[in-house]
Amino acid sequence: MKALVLSGGKGTRLRPLTHTMAKQLVPVANQPILGYVMNHLREAGIKDTGVIVAPETQEEVRRYLEDGGKWGLNVSYIVQEQPLGLAHAVKTARDFLADDDFVMYLGDNLLGSGIRDAVGRFQESDADCMIFLKEVADPRAFGVAQLDESGNIVRLVEKPKEPPSNLALVGVYIFSPVIHKAIDTIKPSWRGELEITDAIQALIDSGRSVTGEILESWWLDTGKKDDFLAANTTVLDEYTRRRIEGEVDEQSTIEGRVHIEEGATVLRSTIRGPVVIGAGTRVENSFIGPFSSVGRGSVIKDSVIEHVVILDESEVVGVVRLEDSLIGRNARVRKSESLRGALRLMIGDHSKVEI
Ligand code: G1P
Repeated sequence: MKALVLSGGKGTRLRPLTHTMAKQLVPVANQPILGYVMNHLREAGIKDTGVIVAPETQEEVRRYLEDGGKWGLNVSYIVQEQPLGLAHAVKTARDFLADDDFVMYLGDNLLGSGIRDAVGRFQESDADCMIFLKEVADPRAFGVAQLDESGNIVRLVEKPKEPPSNLALVGVYIFSPVIHKAIDTIKPSWRGELEITDAIQALIDSGRSVTGEILESWWLDTGKKDDFLAANTTVLDEYTRRRIEGEVDEQSTIEGRVHIEEGATVLRSTIRGPVVIGAGTRVENSFIGPFSSVGRGSVIKDSVIEHVVILDESEVVGVVRLEDSLIGRNARVRKSESLRGALRLMIGDHSKVEI
């Protein structure tokens, strides 16, 4: 079993963060989404992993994953020159995939259950394809499955205007090599892409066995479905364990599941988990409330924050209360005594400010 991880695409929904980074590298609870994906592959016993990258963002993806050794994986990079669809990505990876079964995992998706058990079930079955479905409120942005009364998949449609059900196709698929023949039979869709959904429909039409599992665990899709703060909250809740590796002075209180990375310093502050504080960050005379992540090398001083994501090298100083907020990298939020109620802002493209 090999893996194909898709790490191209543009990430318009995660702007402004994705003006300067690949959407798969945006940190959720201080770890790029791609990192969780790699963990899931390792847990499933997979070694050979092809990573599809776009020319524009390949460098930073390579810098993060390197050769995959951090996860015990062997990573090969495959450049997809243009975003011509998921089935096109599989075509591009044809030589790498050879005649092996493989898991295709979209690098901005995350399954709460991981994939180990599903890979096991696929290997024991005689299916040529396993897909995962999850009920969503508005399925029109996804591939959608129609099931018959016994739960068999009868039809899959990509981004239907009138969805036949509320069951969205999750961005994780398991295939036998028969998928390559199916891909050869499909034509680009209305959006000019070779859709994996159409290739799976072609498998169904040719009488191949396609199994669908309705996910019981959570599913995140930071590229389309989930608000970034909501995704961060889910991941913090799921993965944070209490680990105090940095320095905490005696005047500070650390409550619950708080991970303070090595080299972080907490002085005269209260932190109530689940919270992650990145390496080299200094928290001073502040309160950090539940569901907050602070990246590496940042400063939080004389402030109260809750349900906030702050990425690396940023500063929040003298802010009376900051809630439900997302602060990018190298950003500064400071109280100024001299402005007498006026605001002084320098906001990047596609930013949102509520005052
Ligand atoms: C792709 C698939 C779609 C699936 C979705 C999950 O959409 O085409 O069927 O539901 O991923 O994230 P795309 O990212 O190409 O819009």
